Amino acid sequence: MAVTKATAAENKIFSNSKLDKKWWHDAVIYQIYPRSFMDANNDGIGDLAGIISKLDYLKQLGINVIWLSPVFKSPMDDNGYDISDYQDIASEFGTLAEMDALIVAAAKRDIKIIMDLVVNHTSDEHPWFIESKKSLDNPYRDYYVWRKPQPDGSEPNNFHSYFGGSGWELDTNTGEYYFHQFSKKQPDLNWDNPQVQEEVHNMMNWWLDRGIGGFRMDVIDLIGKEVDKQIMTNGPRLHPLLQQMNKATFGSRDVLTVGESWSATPNIAKLYSDPAREELSMVFQFEHITITFDPYEGKWKPRAFDLVEFKKVISKWQTELADCGWNSLFWNNHDLPRVVSKYGCPDQYRVESAKMLATALHFLKGTPYIYQGEEIGMTNVKFDNIEDYQDIETLNLYEERIASGVSHESMMEGIYKNGRDNARTPMQWNNTFNAGFSTGKPWIKLNPNYVEINVESALSEPTSIFHYYQKLIKLRKQHAVIVYGEFQPLFEEHAQVFAYLRKLDNDTVVVINNFSAQVITVSLPNSLQGITGDCLINNYGPRVQLLEQLVLAPYESFATLINKAN
Ligand code: NOJ
Repeated sequence: MAVTKATAAENKIFSNSKLDKKWWHDAVIYQIYPRSFMDANNDGIGDLAGIISKLDYLKQLGINVIWLSPVFKSPMDDNGYDISDYQDIASEFGTLAEMDALIVAAAKRDIKIIMDLVVNHTSDEHPWFIESKKSLDNPYRDYYVWRKPQPDGSEPNNFHSYFGGSGWELDTNTGEYYFHQFSKKQPDLNWDNPQVQEEVHNMMNWWLDRGIGGFRMDVIDLIGKEVDKQIMTNGPRLHPLLQQMNKATFGSRDVLTVGESWSATPNIAKLYSDPAREELSMVFQFEHITITFDPYEGKWKPRAFDLVEFKKVISKWQTELADCGWNSLFWNNHDLPRVVSKYGCPDQYRVESAKMLATALHFLKGTPYIYQGEEIGMTNVKFDNIEDYQDIETLNLYEERIASGVSHESMMEGIYKNGRDNARTPMQWNNTFNAGFSTGKPWIKLNPNYVEINVESALSEPTSIFHYYQKLIKLRKQHAVIVYGEFQPLFEEHAQVFAYLRKLDNDTVVVINNFSAQVITVSLPNSLQGITGDCLINNYGPRVQLLEQLVLAPYESFATLINKAN
């Protein structure tokens, strides 16, 4: 499929921009974590047939793309982010035929599927690694990063794995260490090896030929690493490797690519997403997330959310990528806590705050991502016992940090706030046994609040969070100003209100969000006072006329469109 460039007339919207129009500019993407979405064969693990059975639900929500977390063959040390065969499906998820059926069934509903490309590492059970381990001169030896021990037998350097412990594992058979940034069952691929590059490119083309709509690229900022210099992120070969990948695979097809990059700054994000550089469509950057982590102890010692700091980060990204590159917009994913628990008020104002947070994000410039369950306001979970947690990162770091003197209570606090299993409890479909997710024993415990918070009740309630998201998705399709308008922050120093304008030609959208449980009064700038507009969405009641003084209810949120031509 050739890349379609918009004609000059269609590009009118871009009078002030260098961008060509892309289908993914006004798309909304829904992330599925297959293990926890829907279990059709009742073995307690979600599967592809389960996803197919819920496509009509997703169509009703209005999303355009599904990002499918990995479904490939895997020993599931990291729930599929450890792949042992890139061209087959894990038996617990289904078969390749079912994957093809999912692509077709989704396409019938105008939904594209993007796959998770996990190529910084494979599983240690991948045939390449099994070969690589066999001998120093095995043809696959150089597919991975092997180094000799130091003279005293210790690790080649002191790199610490993100999942705890050393980043090096000794293979006693060949007497060398292999490198792994994640678990020892996730050996890092050696991207300096042209054969690795070619194998990955072939595999990507094989999936593209099956009709997928693109890739989400796992920890893509790590593939240009220089292990001996301990340069892991943004290594010197990263962008050349991506340009080469683009040319060899998706560059000639009209697909979406989004790279995960915890290390991206706006300038780095432009390197990835400036169309002229022919790399990726966009990246996931995490600056708005990491500002809530302790600088030394990271997410396990969360910092209080500071709205002023958050707004600075968002404004910076909105402004710096305004005319070059493209933003992704997200609150949460399978590695992060639930949005309403982290930034909202899940007990007293769950519905109001979930809607406010959705407004705050969906009126920004960029492509919004919704994580499964976000659209019904699912919340974090608190399991009583560490044994109930399943996530490898949580379990490894619990052990490591307890051994280093951190108290159980403090670690559990960190897990409750930021642990990855918060996002991984089964999707809550209804209030029956196991929330309608499975009649078998779910692989992870449910959040007991499924009795009240579930899809069935959200669908039956016209003012539910689900219907609010449905409306937000529609609005993005109806108003170009939401997709392309210029971003202007308001009340930058206000500690409770996140407000901004979006402007395109005659249209201005005023977006106001009260991030607090207090009643807040703000005075609008003179230019907006007394103006009447069309209230596009609100979570209390329509705000048609913008009064001089706005008295905002707890977590109140609205967006009002003003059209100068009227
Ligand atoms: C990032 C993924 O989002 C996470 O779930 C995974 O554990 C690591 N990359 C390693 O693949």
